[in-house]
Amino acid sequence: KNYYAVVPAAGVGKRVGAAKPKQYIEINGQTVLEHTLNALLKAQLFSEIIVAVSAADSHWQQIALLQHPQIRVVEGGQERSDSVLAALTVLQAEPEDWVLVHDVARPCIAEKSIHKLIACLKNDEVGGILALPISDTVKQVGEAQAINSTLDRSQLWSAQTPQMFRYQLLQQGLQQGLAQGLVITDEASAIELLGFKPKVVEGLASNIKITRPEDLTLAAFYLSQITEED
Ligand code: CTP
Ligand code: MG
Repeated sequence: KNYYAVVPAAGVGKRVGAAKPKQYIEINGQTVLEHTLNALLKAQLFSEIIVAVSAADSHWQQIALLQHPQIRVVEGGQERSDSVLAALTVLQAEPEDWVLVHDVARPCIAEKSIHKLIACLKNDEVGGILALPISDTVKQVGEAQAINSTLDRSQLWSAQTPQMFRYQLLQQGLQQGLAQGLVITDEASAIELLGFKPKVVEGLASNIKITRPEDLTLAAFYLSQITEED
């Protein structure tokens, strides 16, 4: 089976609130987008890497790495799932081929985590995701900021990316979500819609998603660690 990577990179980065979308911010001399793509290229796994960018900005045109022969750029969409679907549409993949969807905003992904995900799932029918057992206690909060209940932490995991699924199932699940008008925030929930139970594979806490300004500092630290280790 072939492996493909899809990188949704068409967001605006509203919560980071910088002058440009967070994927174009430089950390340790490279944009977040370049760190993420270099991590995927380094794994030497993928037949192709499809990057979904926004038609509304021209930042991506300045990124020389996007000319790499293994990388293809497509126009993303309104929601993350639209961007992923746009990327899947241009893939000439077989139904059973694997697609790893990885947020552009997770540049600290370790090569060993990508290989672990694949090693754990390559004989699976469906696929699964990198995830981390939750370390905080999670409260369900209702009106007037009042706590309704405390969730059983032993069953809770935070979803990360990459999320790895069979090409055909992933496309079906995302299309079904779209048809039902649901907001699908990760690929696993699209697969769950089809009635499957995707697996979790334990990832690393360093695989943060850059979401708020302070995450940039943290990402710079983790990225410097990765460079030292390899
Ligand atoms: N994404 C995308 N297309 C969209 C929206 C998001 O490809 N229409 C991508 C983002 O570029 C990011 C990933 O989905 O890699 C996760 O989204 P998030 O962290 O929410 O990024 P943004 O939407 O850019 O940030 P914000 O929600 O703060 O605006
Ligand atoms: Mg968003």
